[in-house]
Amino acid sequence: MLKYNLIVAVCEDFGIGLKGDLPWHLKSELKYFSRTTKLKGNPAKRNVVIMGRKTYFGIPPNKRPLPERVNIVLSTTLSAEDLPKDVLLCRNLDIAMQTLESEKWIETIENVWIVGGSRVYEEALASPRCHRLYLTKIKEHFNCDTFFPSIPESFCEIPIDDKTPQGIQEEKGIKYEYKILEKH
Ligand SMILES: NC(=O)c1ccc[n+]([C@@H]2O[C@H](COP(=O)([O-])OP(=O)(O)OC[C@H]3O[C@@H](n4cnc5c(N)ncnc54)[C@H](OP(=O)(O)O)[C@@H]3O)[C@@H](O)[C@H]2O)c1
Repeated sequence: MLKYNLIVAVCEDFGIGLKGDLPWHLKSELKYFSRTTKLKGNPAKRNVVIMGRKTYFGIPPNKRPLPERVNIVLSTTLSAEDLPKDVLLCRNLDIAMQTLESEKWIETIENVWIVGGSRVYEEALASPRCHRLYLTKIKEHFNCDTFFPSIPESFCEIPIDDKTPQGIQEEKGIKYEYKILEKH
């Protein structure tokens, strides 16, 4: 069974978004997202990012699709013509994963990342396919209209890997910390 990791940045009350955008602008945190979701051992394979329609269209037009990764957008309302040719449209998360497990894709894929928003995260957290949650905890309150779901008790914090900066980070006076949780 093909597994995936989740990656998210949350503020104090687990807010993740405001009006279709991120509530904060943290360049280093965005770079960490980019670096982590691109990281792979086999240069011949590709990583995948799976996201909901609003998350995809919340990415600035000149930055989407997210480069060097297979982009999958989940939507029940979009048609293929609404997206660039190299973006895969899937009607739900199961269909997306079954597509990646098909003969056409399976040998070409290394890591699969769930990158939001709320409902996709909620479904992904509950699935046996879920391996790890890469969580950036921003130690400040931001006004948000979109929130990360509650993390099930089956997730335990593990030591961060050597690719993840350790300890409290700070940018523009905003403190945050990278955590990794694993599903047991
Ligand atoms: N802080 C972070 O790390 C982070 C990460 C990601 C996003 N965000 C923020 O979160 C906000 C967007 O998240 P959101 O929760 O509002 O929206 P979203 O999940 O990105 O998009 C919602 C739409 O995606 C489709 N969708 C979602 N789950 C689906 C599923 N399981 N199966 C089929 N379709 C599905 C549906 O589209 P249709 O209506 O077309 O069917 C749904 O209306 C933005 O503000 C964004 O900046 C923050």
